[in-house]
Amino acid sequence: MRTDTIPTISRHDYQPYPYRLPHVALEFDLDPLQTRVSSRLEFERVGNVNEPLLLNGQDLVLESVMLDGQTLAPQAYRLQDETLTLFPTKASFTLQITSLCKPADNSSLMGLYVSGDKLFTQCEAEGFRRITWFPDRPDVMSRYRVTLRADRMHYPLLLSNGNLLESVDLPDGRHQAVWEDPHPKPSYLFALVAGDFACREQTVKTHGKRDALLQIYSDRGSEPKTQWALDCLIRSLQWDEQRFGLELDLDRFMVVAARDFNMGAMENKGLNIFNSAYVLADKDSATDAAYRAIEAVIGHEYFHNWTGNRVTCRDWFQLSLKEGLTVFRDQEFSADMLAHDLSGAEAASARAVKRIDDVSTLRIAQFPEDAGPMAHPIRPESYQEIGNFYTATVYEKGAEVIRMQHTILGETGFRAGIDEYFRRHDGAAVTCDDFVSAMESVYVQRNPGKNLDVFRRWYSQAGTPRVKVDLAYDAEAHTCSITLAQHNEAVGIERLQSPVLPKPPLHIPFALGLLDQQGKPLPLEHDGKAAETVLLELTEERQTWVFENIAHKPIPSLLRNFSAPVIVDIERQESELILLAQHDTDPFARWEAVQELATRQLLCLTRSISDERQSDIASGLTETWKRLLHDPNLSAAYKTRILSQPTEKELLEKTSPMDPAAVVKAGKHMREQLGRALAPDWLDIYRATSGNDDAYRPDPLSSGRRSLHNLCLHYLMAAGHPDAQPLAVAQYYDATNMTDRMGGLSALVHFSDSPQRQEALNHFYEQWQQDPLVIDKWFALQASAPGATVETIKSLMLHPAFSLRNPNRARSLIFQFCMNSLQGVHTPEGYAFWADQVIALDQLNPEIAARLARAFDNWARYTARNREAIRAALQRIQQHPTLSRNVSEIVSKALK
Ligand code: ARG
Ligand code: ZN
Repeated sequence: MRTDTIPTISRHDYQPYPYRLPHVALEFDLDPLQTRVSSRLEFERVGNVNEPLLLNGQDLVLESVMLDGQTLAPQAYRLQDETLTLFPTKASFTLQITSLCKPADNSSLMGLYVSGDKLFTQCEAEGFRRITWFPDRPDVMSRYRVTLRADRMHYPLLLSNGNLLESVDLPDGRHQAVWEDPHPKPSYLFALVAGDFACREQTVKTHGKRDALLQIYSDRGSEPKTQWALDCLIRSLQWDEQRFGLELDLDRFMVVAARDFNMGAMENKGLNIFNSAYVLADKDSATDAAYRAIEAVIGHEYFHNWTGNRVTCRDWFQLSLKEGLTVFRDQEFSADMLAHDLSGAEAASARAVKRIDDVSTLRIAQFPEDAGPMAHPIRPESYQEIGNFYTATVYEKGAEVIRMQHTILGETGFRAGIDEYFRRHDGAAVTCDDFVSAMESVYVQRNPGKNLDVFRRWYSQAGTPRVKVDLAYDAEAHTCSITLAQHNEAVGIERLQSPVLPKPPLHIPFALGLLDQQGKPLPLEHDGKAAETVLLELTEERQTWVFENIAHKPIPSLLRNFSAPVIVDIERQESELILLAQHDTDPFARWEAVQELATRQLLCLTRSISDERQSDIASGLTETWKRLLHDPNLSAAYKTRILSQPTEKELLEKTSPMDPAAVVKAGKHMREQLGRALAPDWLDIYRATSGNDDAYRPDPLSSGRRSLHNLCLHYLMAAGHPDAQPLAVAQYYDATNMTDRMGGLSALVHFSDSPQRQEALNHFYEQWQQDPLVIDKWFALQASAPGATVETIKSLMLHPAFSLRNPNRARSLIFQFCMNSLQGVHTPEGYAFWADQVIALDQLNPEIAARLARAFDNWARYTARNREAIRAALQRIQQHPTLSRNVSEIVSKALK
């Protein structure tokens, strides 16, 4: 498709649908080669006049259209490429439409598709139109009755949303199941599944004392790997009851694992469909990180049942209404699971581990997006392809915007706001603004005369704001004034407007603490209360707060717990950071201080590398790390975070122009130096964190220990310590769980070029070739290794286990290389390879191709050599004659 012919959809053009559709009946004659879908749609007009009735459809063959029982002649409707328009004359009428689709030819994995020998659907955002002609928009909500017919031997199980009404055998080896969903829903929440599955199930009581049947379906043979997912589902149910008072509204809740899936999972009402990577786990095949990811995604999809399904989006510009809120909920769920059983400072530090991981994700994935050509507010203003807007901004920054409301209102205020939101909107399709209004109803009660008008700007402003902090101490008056000044630069398309408009200030909750020169927290008076942490609400461009009775110049601890998605600018001495690294009582800010120390060091190294100078790391940093490594009060999980270097990607964002080669070298240099300087310490802690032969559990304590163990091994390998390689080899072969095994293998793959590296890789493949999720790890590890080149990747693509059609496999090899192997990909061959793969993938799966197409969004900020080579690759993609709407939009925005 040519970019200049793709229409742009604007948020302001929203019009309500002129018809209601209370009842939908669908009949499926399922067959992978050709499936026939017959629909019966009962429409009622909303206003007093008959408007044209517009239905969406894509890649469908229309067989017949009947209006109130009469077949319509083709002249009676208008059939275009992706729309079918009718011209009704009555206030209510019934349409019956029959059409065909081809699941086996559908490599986009949107709509009805084949995965292995099974049939699945994915309808969000606009996949239902690939199944049948329909008003495929989230504000049209209907009750569905679904009849599924298929060959009984190949498809013994036929699932759809809601309750099973009937299941009968038909002649000629076929059978039929009838499902009815009592809850009205938009088409994007429809689902069906057909095939042969194993099932693990349990009946639980909800707090309203209702029985709910929970089921996890997966490939036959994989049932030993679904216990954890079921446990997570049960914990999700309990957590949503306890923390939000939200109960399951279904008798039956099903989760089905699919091998081929574009994203993580999908919250279809009562019938969640999951990427199998977020369902299957046992100790031998899944790492601790995989266990945690399953918990997060099971929680996320379950929580959507209220935030997304009971209250849904009016239109797709409101996507963050459900995604930002549901990500916030799953983050809180995970944090509560980590802190379970703990209290006080221990609980705070356990929760901080999750917060650190989430903020790192935000900085790695969202900050760059917010500074590049795809920058958009969490509620976008326009799009060409909605599939391109399932972004880190809508999800992760969206969650931060919800979290700020939580921070401003406090836990009880936020809960009152949520209760009000459901009281007002249960069963409806609403907007982000409706959500903020519900929260505001609580805010105004507690803050008379104030409102959330300024806060609402978070929904319409793109870009990461910067907050500049100035501290002035008055030694005579014993006062300390803190001045915050905010600035949000123009980004993305905003830069192309002339004149470039300044952005009005945002409402930024800024959590602050002050430490004395010994590192002791100072009690601060604010709003008539005394506390160690105060919440400053910055709503103007610049504001000053004065704290009294401060005996000496204090050291500020800033943006505690990352209270807003902003960048803090402050000039400060290294000695202040070292003090914070040792004493800050806010575990997030403490981690941040250490990161800042390390980042300064790394930036200094990148500069000296660009100038071809030698430079060593400062002793202050090694001393700080050594002390942290041995601190008896820190958990192993927290230590692993605090002693990990900032990632290459975070560092790259901070170089200007962006210089991937220098960043890679600086990172390597620092790892080696820290590895060497602390070698005896890494070795000690490595030994101290060895597991015993206890049964494996993915609990926070033992997984924290394993993560620190593996970190130590990595530093020892980086340092080239003589004991390191034998330890890695032994750890790999002797491991009794996948976390330890991967720790050993990745140490070898990343840091060694000895024959043992390839031996271990071969051994691993031999052992695990039957398990696709493990083989994904095998590909990913090689693709992201520092030495990986285009040649490495091309030869792995020839491996019989490789396929571009399976998104997990494409991600594990192609995406890993293009997104994470900075050294290998930032070369002329690397960029050419990337462009080739975007084009090849686009012919199969536009949504996945468009994600790969974003690998170098920020190409214009790279050094001149990289910049020109990426531009040429982008132009080559753009000139390809058959680009999808998805890739077109991305590439044309990048080249604007
Ligand atoms: N609603 C799903 C989730 O957040 C994501 C589905 C997106 N699907 C897609 N094809 N883009 O859990
Ligand atoms: Zn979601």
